[in-house]
Amino acid sequence: MPYRDMRDYLAIVEQRGLVKRIHREVDHNWEVACLAKWMYQALPVDQRFGMYFQNIKGSKIPVITGALGACPESVALALQCDVEQINDKVVGALRNPIKPRIVDTAVCQETVLTGQRASLDTLPIVTWTPGKDKAPYLTTIVVTRDHDTGVRNMAVYRTMVRDNRSVVVNLSPGRQGTRNVRTWTEKGKKAPIAWVIATEPTVHLATVANLPYGRDEIEMAGGLKGEPIDLVRCKTIDLLVPANAEIIVEAEIAPGDLDDEGPFGEFAGYMGVVDKRPVAHITAVTHRRDPIYYGYTSQMPPSESTTIQSLMNAGVILQMLRDHIGEQSVHDVWIDLTFGGLLAHCVVAMTPQFPGHGKRVGRTIADTTLLKRVTVVDADVDIRDHSHVEWAMNSRFSPQRDTVIIDDVYVPLQIDPSVRNAHGVVTQSSKIVLDATQKIDSGLFSLPPKDMMMKALNVWKECGLPEFRIPKRAKLRLDNS
Ligand SMILES: Cc1cc2nc3c(=O)[nH]c(=O)nc-3n(C[C@H](O)[C@H](O)[C@H](O)COP(=O)(O)O)c2cc1C
Repeated sequence: MPYRDMRDYLAIVEQRGLVKRIHREVDHNWEVACLAKWMYQALPVDQRFGMYFQNIKGSKIPVITGALGACPESVALALQCDVEQINDKVVGALRNPIKPRIVDTAVCQETVLTGQRASLDTLPIVTWTPGKDKAPYLTTIVVTRDHDTGVRNMAVYRTMVRDNRSVVVNLSPGRQGTRNVRTWTEKGKKAPIAWVIATEPTVHLATVANLPYGRDEIEMAGGLKGEPIDLVRCKTIDLLVPANAEIIVEAEIAPGDLDDEGPFGEFAGYMGVVDKRPVAHITAVTHRRDPIYYGYTSQMPPSESTTIQSLMNAGVILQMLRDHIGEQSVHDVWIDLTFGGLLAHCVVAMTPQFPGHGKRVGRTIADTTLLKRVTVVDADVDIRDHSHVEWAMNSRFSPQRDTVIIDDVYVPLQIDPSVRNAHGVVTQSSKIVLDATQKIDSGLFSLPPKDMMMKALNVWKECGLPEFRIPKRAKLRLDNS
């Protein structure tokens, strides 16, 4: 059964120990973020968990973070598959999107606050880099719509609380939400915009997939879920939002209304620069009778933001290579979790068909995404295993022969701290493709044959040595021994 809402999902992740409840009273102005930072900064990936803060100082609403993006297992649970099937799920959803269903009544509108009552001080909005961020920020899904075509967009754009009735939205130039908002403001009209807090897991995950403009994230979410996502019309603006959400914030952006946004701790590990961004005035806050609040942990990686963006965008790249470029020789794609979907390191497993094929695939990925490094390996390497990729780099990669540098890369979002200084001055960036596929026959692997090694497993047991699970790295090597 697919999850109906965030609550359904939380029950399952909690059962698996991937979400822990915190009963002690905590302050959302600093303690929530600091505890979440310790979780990501101190624990290895296989020990991470989401945090369910039940007792928030000054609020009846609990706060959750990290539940979706604690680790690959939590994302796999959200998609109801194994970690190694996440890419297949994403490719399947992109090939078979499911249109949403419009409903008339929704739990997210059990309580409707409009006029002076539509105030953000009813919500425990978290300060994510306490001591450095200018204000609390909404870090959740943002919905916009094109005035003329109706094209809907859902993405996460961090949103700074300006006061109880207004926010500053980080709608950067070039982003799809920015494009949608402009179709209203350029006509002198107010643009509708809404924030969706804590809804069905597949909606959260689809909204961080980098899809081409016009592809509807809500249809991808339906494809991931295997059934339509229910949408309901907002109470004060003309937008449709997920009906099973916990909280919806409705607002309007007036033409020319800008204010300073930031500083805010960026996903790349540094404080972002202050820039002018659109102001949105709150028109309604609607929620369930007993809502829960969700905010993504981002800032210094690794974080929830890097985990979900890496895992979702690997599948998007795989589908693009297979369906749009016809690259059937690519088996799998992995984006390193320590830097998120953007600027990160992507590792591709493929079976090259001709000389230079690895470089070509690597260049295609580098040219069509915001990824900064692409490493290409053969299909006999476990791309999710750092030590196996390192082995391929040392045994199959010759730097002078196998490196491609892509120069003069413009960083549209000013987010790469290696080329942007603290005053916001940006120089051109560059990318690197490392082709670590085998180009010459290096001979046999220096391991005993597979049948002998399997026989030796019985001897291992007879010796009373500790049990282990055979890692994929060893399986792949033995299959070729
Ligand atoms: C916690 C979090 C915060 C994010 N903040 C921003 C942001 O402020 N601006 C931005 O352009 N992208 C941000 N992103 C990344 C986008 O949501 C993501 O790349 C999305 O696919 C962009 O959608 P679009 O191509 O429809 O604009 C954020 C992602 C997460 C998980």
